[in-house]
Amino acid sequence: MTENNIFRFVIIGAGGIANHFAEAAAMMDGVEIAAVGSKSAERAEAFAAKNAIPAWYDSYEKMLEEVRPDAAYIATTPNFHYENTMLCLKHRVPVLCEKAAYRSEEEASEVLEQSEAQGTFVMEALWSRFLPTLKKAKEWLESGAIGEVISFCSNVGGAFDRNVAKRNFDPALAGGCMYDLTCYSYDIADYFFGKETEITDIRAEFDADGVDLDVTLDLKYGNITARQENSMIRELQEDFAVAGTKGKIVIPHPHWGNDAYLYDAEGKEIEHFRADVPNGFVFEIGETVDCVRSGAVESCVVPHELTLRAAKLYDRIKASVNEE
Ligand SMILES: NC(=O)c1ccc[n+]([C@@H]2O[C@H](COP(=O)([O-])OP(=O)(O)OC[C@H]3O[C@@H](n4cnc5c(N)ncnc54)[C@H](OP(=O)(O)O)[C@@H]3O)[C@@H](O)[C@H]2O)c1
Repeated sequence: MTENNIFRFVIIGAGGIANHFAEAAAMMDGVEIAAVGSKSAERAEAFAAKNAIPAWYDSYEKMLEEVRPDAAYIATTPNFHYENTMLCLKHRVPVLCEKAAYRSEEEASEVLEQSEAQGTFVMEALWSRFLPTLKKAKEWLESGAIGEVISFCSNVGGAFDRNVAKRNFDPALAGGCMYDLTCYSYDIADYFFGKETEITDIRAEFDADGVDLDVTLDLKYGNITARQENSMIRELQEDFAVAGTKGKIVIPHPHWGNDAYLYDAEGKEIEHFRADVPNGFVFEIGETVDCVRSGAVESCVVPHELTLRAAKLYDRIKASVNEE
């Protein structure tokens, strides 16, 4: 931290989502992006100019050594997250890492054990669970607004254009539905219903390159039955619908939406919650700042355990390719 108490991030990876992060940081008091690093000097320089960032590097390591930031935001594709995080840990730089943070249990456990062993903060950038919409829906659930929960259904995704969403179909960049979309469905369900998850069925469709295009999970959370559908090849409704004995909650676009609806048992709308959130990344940034400043190794909102469980799920989905 600087003398004037500004929290200094660096960005690793000068791509699409990093712009959204830089915009969020620019909206916040007491936070700055001190530098951006990219494998490409051209990309780094252009990103720095576009986002008014004072320094750019074509070497992540040189950036970490020279800037000595308070934290790094890792915004590369998931195939790089493990090595990028390990590099930050080598330099004892706290990490906020884009989803899906790590591709397998092996990667996740190595990173998280290292983080815990040396006391350096690591958090997966699961920004959705900080959104006011999800918080409101959780409040409804906990206050018994829909009675006892019986089941829920969530679906996230759509028919992606292979020419536009190139990284999603590229096995070398850890493309695929689970790293891009299932991570959200799993995270949001976990946010509401906790970790007592039993996955009763996995149905995944893979392309010839081994990229998962469509993943459906059947799950049980105690007595609650659930289905999560995610796809890059078929249009989905994109909502999260929870049915209870006294009503229903529906959240359109649960991973980024600003609306949530509460219905009674007859289907009559009881409440419509709408949040005004110009850039939802501000919350995960705030959480990172607070955690690092308090000396925490993990966030209690996005704990290591959640990242590890998601990584184990990815291993199971990959293994399902060999199942009948
Ligand atoms: N939270 C959200 O709402 C959200 C939304 C979209 C994406 N994401 C996540 O953010 C991450 C990045 O996604 P993105 O859409 O921003 O990706 P992107 O723009 O395609 O690429 C991000 C960075 O990854 C590296 N990269 C990409 N393609 C590469 C290639 N062919 N060869 C070598 N390096 C390559 C580059 O890093 P360098 O510049 O350092 O070389 C690039 O700047 C993913 O994990 C994704 O799941 C999150």
